[in-house]
Amino acid sequence: MLAAYAARTDPDDPVGALEVAERPEPGSRAGWTTVTLKAASLNHHDLWSLRGVGLPADRLPMVLGCDGAGVDEDGHEIIVHSVVASDGWSGDETLDPARSLLSELHDGTLAERVSVPRANLVPKPQAMSWETAACLPTAWLTAYRMLFTNADVAPGSTVLVQGAGGGVATALVQLGSAAGLRMWVVTRDETKADRAAEIGADRTFPSGARLPERVDAVMESVGAATWSHSVNSLNPGGTIVICGATSGDAPVKAELTKIFFRQLRVVGSTMGTREELGRLARFVTDRQIQPVVDSVRPLAQAREGFARMAGGDVFGKVVFTVG
Ligand SMILES: NC(=O)c1ccc[n+]([C@@H]2O[C@H](COP(=O)([O-])OP(=O)(O)OC[C@H]3O[C@@H](n4cnc5c(N)ncnc54)[C@H](OP(=O)(O)O)[C@@H]3O)[C@@H](O)[C@H]2O)c1
Repeated sequence: MLAAYAARTDPDDPVGALEVAERPEPGSRAGWTTVTLKAASLNHHDLWSLRGVGLPADRLPMVLGCDGAGVDEDGHEIIVHSVVASDGWSGDETLDPARSLLSELHDGTLAERVSVPRANLVPKPQAMSWETAACLPTAWLTAYRMLFTNADVAPGSTVLVQGAGGGVATALVQLGSAAGLRMWVVTRDETKADRAAEIGADRTFPSGARLPERVDAVMESVGAATWSHSVNSLNPGGTIVICGATSGDAPVKAELTKIFFRQLRVVGSTMGTREELGRLARFVTDRQIQPVVDSVRPLAQAREGFARMAGGDVFGKVVFTVG
């Protein structure tokens, strides 16, 4: 079958480590099922994998991809939940210390077929397109949990999003705006600021700008480059929810004094549960949210999609059609 996979890893040239070529069909495994994919989408996680972050050499070659939607062996249209719990784990799978995402231990979704635990199948709402379904399992699920599980905000609260164009950033703005939150966005790029406003941002600001007032929560996925701004932008008692550190995880200043003196909460957030993915799918359908898609290409052209994300110029999700 055709797949996009890490043949090797390269911290400096991740796209050069990508192969788009034939791989063996997935094998069968008790409790797992094979999904024939219709669409898949890219996450920054796929670039981290190609750089060797979380993907040691002894697991190569590895089919990439955490996001996908397709048809299971019984003909049901499904969304693939990407968090694979270890055998015997019960409860919130994101808290399982031995959990993995598809493409970390087991081949991922950038392929014609993928093997997944039966428990990881989430029914796709009939009205939902394959492209929309393929956007939800990682960036959108992460944004959903950041806002609705971890941020401690309510309709009318002001929420600041660091970054505008990323998969997580666009999902945060679209979800928050649909839920009645006041969404403010900080971006490096004026054009992306305009686009953020078009998809529901109430206000946009250039990087590092002093805000007209402090916010109730900050959604952080950028890391070192924006950390001090996030801390300085928050009301006393407010919450920073952090899910990533694209620009590095060692900020020049940790801002510890401000964090304790203003009693800020710093909450780590990773993916979400299968139940949250089901609720997200329903919310997106009921509110008729169309996830912003940067571009759609056939899987055979995966390299161009990876290069686009590596160039840092995406606005929304990079989607691949399969089959
Ligand atoms: N913990 C989890 O479960 C989880 C899940 C999903 C993602 N993540 C992580 O979250 C991060 C974002 O993921 P993604 O898929 O949304 O990536 P992406 O689509 O590549 O987006 C990158 C985002 O980072 C911003 N950015 C990058 N470098 C920046 C800098 N130096 N200064 C300011 N902004 C910068 C961009 O802002 P502009 O639009 O302003 O250019 C853009 O919004 C990644 O690190 C990823 O690994 C974690």
